[in-house]
Amino acid sequence: MTVTEEIKSRLDIVDIVSESVSLRRSGRNYAGFCPFHQNTRTPAFFVFPETQTWRCFGACAEGGDLFSYVMKKEGWEFKEALKNMAQRAGVTLEEEKPVNKEVQKAQNKQAGLLQAASDYFNQLFLYAPQAEEARQYVARRSLNEDTIAHFAIGFALDSWDACRSHFNMQGYSDQELLAAGLLTENPDKGTKYDRFRNRLMIPIRDVDGRIVGFGARTLEKDGIPKYLNSPQTDLFDKSHLLYGLDSAKRAIREARQAVIVEGYMDVMQAWQAGFQNVVAQMGTALTEHQLRMLKRYTKQFILALDADAAGAKATLRSLQVARETLDRDVEVKFDAHGLVHHEGRLQADIRVITMPEGKDPDNIIQENPEDWPKLVAQAKPVVAYVISVATADLDMNDAKAKTAVAQQVLPLIKDIQDPIERDHYWQLLARTLRIDERALRQIRLPQPPQRTVRREETAVPTKKPGGQPAKTSWAAVPKKGVSSGSPIASDMRQADFLQHAIRSPQIIVRVNQKLQECGQGQVVDGDFLMAEDRAIMRQMYQLIADSPVVTIDELWDSLEQTLQNRLKFLLTLPQSPETELERISDTLVLSVLDWRLAKVRLLLSEVKHLLREAQTEGDVEALAIYTQQLKELPLAVLQLNKARDSMSATSRRRAEDAMNGRY
Ligand code: UTP
Ligand code: MN
Repeated sequence: MTVTEEIKSRLDIVDIVSESVSLRRSGRNYAGFCPFHQNTRTPAFFVFPETQTWRCFGACAEGGDLFSYVMKKEGWEFKEALKNMAQRAGVTLEEEKPVNKEVQKAQNKQAGLLQAASDYFNQLFLYAPQAEEARQYVARRSLNEDTIAHFAIGFALDSWDACRSHFNMQGYSDQELLAAGLLTENPDKGTKYDRFRNRLMIPIRDVDGRIVGFGARTLEKDGIPKYLNSPQTDLFDKSHLLYGLDSAKRAIREARQAVIVEGYMDVMQAWQAGFQNVVAQMGTALTEHQLRMLKRYTKQFILALDADAAGAKATLRSLQVARETLDRDVEVKFDAHGLVHHEGRLQADIRVITMPEGKDPDNIIQENPEDWPKLVAQAKPVVAYVISVATADLDMNDAKAKTAVAQQVLPLIKDIQDPIERDHYWQLLARTLRIDERALRQIRLPQPPQRTVRREETAVPTKKPGGQPAKTSWAAVPKKGVSSGSPIASDMRQADFLQHAIRSPQIIVRVNQKLQECGQGQVVDGDFLMAEDRAIMRQMYQLIADSPVVTIDELWDSLEQTLQNRLKFLLTLPQSPETELERISDTLVLSVLDWRLAKVRLLLSEVKHLLREAQTEGDVEALAIYTQQLKELPLAVLQLNKARDSMSATSRRRAEDAMNGRY
């Protein structure tokens, strides 16, 4: 996560906007009068909590994220917005030492290596004769071709050095292979060998879809470990990742619910059966960091626990023990206290389901897919769940046992932030134990154990803002395997645009001329998705306005730390082999048109969705605004397509060729 993402994940745009605009609920969203233009008749300004964005469908037709909002509202520069919002979010902006080019380059190379390794394992899985058993294994587990491709399942040969030699030949050093977790070093002898041998390879991606590591399943009956994962690295940190999130984001948003399961296979099987709002915590305790990541898409989380993690009543006690000893080996898979705290802090709704004895979502969905939604619908809020587990086989005539249960559950109830909810559970517990609520309130609790260390994370991000994983090198974009939506993602196009603009600012002028010729507005900061990119673009315009020649150094010096980090990243991107300004600007114009098209199409599909919602809610004002949009947006699509066509056929062909060759 970049520092801006971290800040955004901690703040709620609804809160921020509410401070200056009076908002009222409109379906799932909020509406109000736009603070940026005169508008007092119909509230055309909307805030979308799920995407944490805002948009004015009225005269100013603007939109964006938290940063663009406060910058516009307060008239702040990016730096000021960053400082203010960081403070509010409790994120410390480290004045970190500049990452040098070498380090950045190495990080890019590592990302490229991981992607290349995934391709390599995937090809072996699909075609190598040695992978026959692996293919049969996957077939036995009923995973089909689509699923194999979507998750880019692979196979590592049963060899100590096949992977190593393959990548040595491609120019990667042993050191690089070690750093990427593909090689293991014997600490005594210093010998190096392939980490993954004769295993089914499951690439693990971060939320942006970049491969950061692997989970590798044994193909032997009782092979140990069952799953061998990549070693912990900067890129690969299980407590900061959720398996499948990159491909589940959309479905989570649509379902307004994220289901969290234990394992890789559960995610794949669910995906295959059409339940795509499922992610896996990969066998570790759920961290607040993971929940914060998810919270960008929904506020409702459903934990699907396997029976042995949750079933035993001992869970509640053993979890206390685990917290006290903080023995890293004790896996706390279900931490009711932690969850209740998360719920309060994140204002989230966390619910729990238990799988039937001896089953996991993988089996259940394979056997009877229709059982899955039923199970999910039965999810209980954490505290209700704990009460039902703790009282499941309680002898109601055993007064001492009842006290013991109460003593176990009460601390949890006392932890609940919301007073109404808290009261609700006092009553529920009293009712379930069949005792008087007043008696319950008089129960004395044993002294809570001293908690010396907390498992929760500190408010300070441990990763340096500039230390975020570099984007996968484009040369290594998967040819086959994971479907990445549009052929080239808009954020990549924008990064590419900026790197060209930075290297030769005159390109901006030329691109703008060409855009104008085909009836399109010039490139503006609002064209960019990332707050950092918007700020850099604005700065570029500023510098161009001041002097005809702008150097990278000048730009560098004028930028704030976080922006310098972004600039550094942009400058590590592969440059186009093209040298002729005319040709490069053709490619960039096409690129701008394409990302604008992608944006308008996305907006269009969102508006359609909002319109349906407004219809069901009977929200007349919203309905009028969205209907109007539904007339206007297709026109914008039409114009963009026309602009694409009106670029001369030859320059278009040239530009398209150039792009296909490069991305
Ligand atoms: P499970 O043991 O429940 O595995 O571990 P599973 O997903 O049901 O696997 P199959 O169905 O036997 O293939 C749940 C998750 O815990 C992590 C993995 O992420 C796994 O998916 N795990 C488990 C490990 O990291 N290492 C292990 O040795 C075992
Ligand atoms: Mn399983």
